[in-house]
Amino acid sequence: MKAEDVKKITVIGAGDMGHGIAEVALLAGYRVAMQDVEQRFVDRGLTRIKESLDKLVEKQKVTAENKNVMLGNIKTFVDIAEAVKDADLVIEAVPEIMGLKKKVFQALDSAAPKHAILASNTSNMSITEIASVTERPEHVVGMHFFNPAVLMKLVEVIKGDKTGEATVQLTYDLALKMNKVPVRIEKDSIGFAYNRINAPTQILLGLMVERGMANPEEIDAKMKKIGMPMGPYELMDYVGLDVAYHGARYFSDRLSRDYEPPGWLKGKIDAGELGKKTGRGIFDWSKGRPEIDLSKAKEDFDPTILIAIQVNEATKLLEEGVVKSAGEIDKAMASGGGSGFGPFQMARGIGYDRLAKICEDLAREFGVKVFEPTETLKKGNI
Ligand code: CAA
Repeated sequence: MKAEDVKKITVIGAGDMGHGIAEVALLAGYRVAMQDVEQRFVDRGLTRIKESLDKLVEKQKVTAENKNVMLGNIKTFVDIAEAVKDADLVIEAVPEIMGLKKKVFQALDSAAPKHAILASNTSNMSITEIASVTERPEHVVGMHFFNPAVLMKLVEVIKGDKTGEATVQLTYDLALKMNKVPVRIEKDSIGFAYNRINAPTQILLGLMVERGMANPEEIDAKMKKIGMPMGPYELMDYVGLDVAYHGARYFSDRLSRDYEPPGWLKGKIDAGELGKKTGRGIFDWSKGRPEIDLSKAKEDFDPTILIAIQVNEATKLLEEGVVKSAGEIDKAMASGGGSGFGPFQMARGIGYDRLAKICEDLAREFGVKVFEPTETLKKGNI
């Protein structure tokens, strides 16, 4: 099968990511099925697609007529077998729990046509392990979108140990057809590129709150003042504190104990305060997006430390062969979020020796091994 042969896409999960991915597929002209475990979840997903398409009509990016065609191209399901029975591509976007992903992939493998590609939108988890429960590991691939999927350009295309090259190429080509910026992840490695590079900054952001060194509003105000569309704590709420928590646990179990989620984050999860989706998280979302008071900016917080940590982690991906080149990493980081720049582009302006020194100091101050500068960062000829 080639990308041109894909006509029907099924998305499993109608939440934040699932409904967004379904909308991206509709915008690219595909027939779409969207499935979730309860009717009220698929109904809510469909309402969110309609609301988002209305915004695009308002902005004249889509015509009203085209919107109606797209809404005619989507069907919703609760029954997973019905949803995938004639799919060419299935994209799974269920919560980040490995046992759940495996159950879903077993169901997909038995109900989807033999030729169908089974993709996971997992943020962090092993594609190889997910594929292991199917009879078609060569047709299982990672296709990782970013939140909000309709606006963020990056799609990480992840090759599991047994994923066929034809599957990787087809998924890459489909992402292009969806008007996205695909980046190949050559080695199935925890957090792939974007989330792996951001993960150590989450350690620091967690520790700063845990130790009372700053509060989230002060840091977010500072980051907004220097041009970020959203501060890092607001972004955690936006994506979901449950996603941050499960991600940190996964990293902690498989990469380093340094990633263990901080106590305050666990407290939020236990209290059911998951961010935007529950109306309260680090901030109050009950009246819409939180208003960050820029006058509270912590002026002595130097954002270069976040860049140093990111660049250092990015060098590990080069050392481990996860992504082919610094240019591809920059492309991924500039397209996945709101910053618009890649770590190596920023590093060249700041100087590798300065970044290595910052990492050394942070590792010592916080006792976090993950912050220690790599040999590649210290050499700096990237
Ligand atoms: N559909 C259509 N339009 C939308 C939309 C949606 N779902 N969401 C926002 N918009 C539009 C708004 O209507 C607005 O349009 P106008 O400019 O015409 O008014 C525009 O986008 C900008 O929105 P806002 O004015 O509300 O706010 P903003 O300028 O801050 O943009 C944002 C919102 C695009 C989300 C921006 O804050 C941003 O880029 N944030 C960072 C997002 C990010 O980093 N995402 C990656 C998260 S990590 C991840 O996803 C990894 C994972 O695996 C979990």
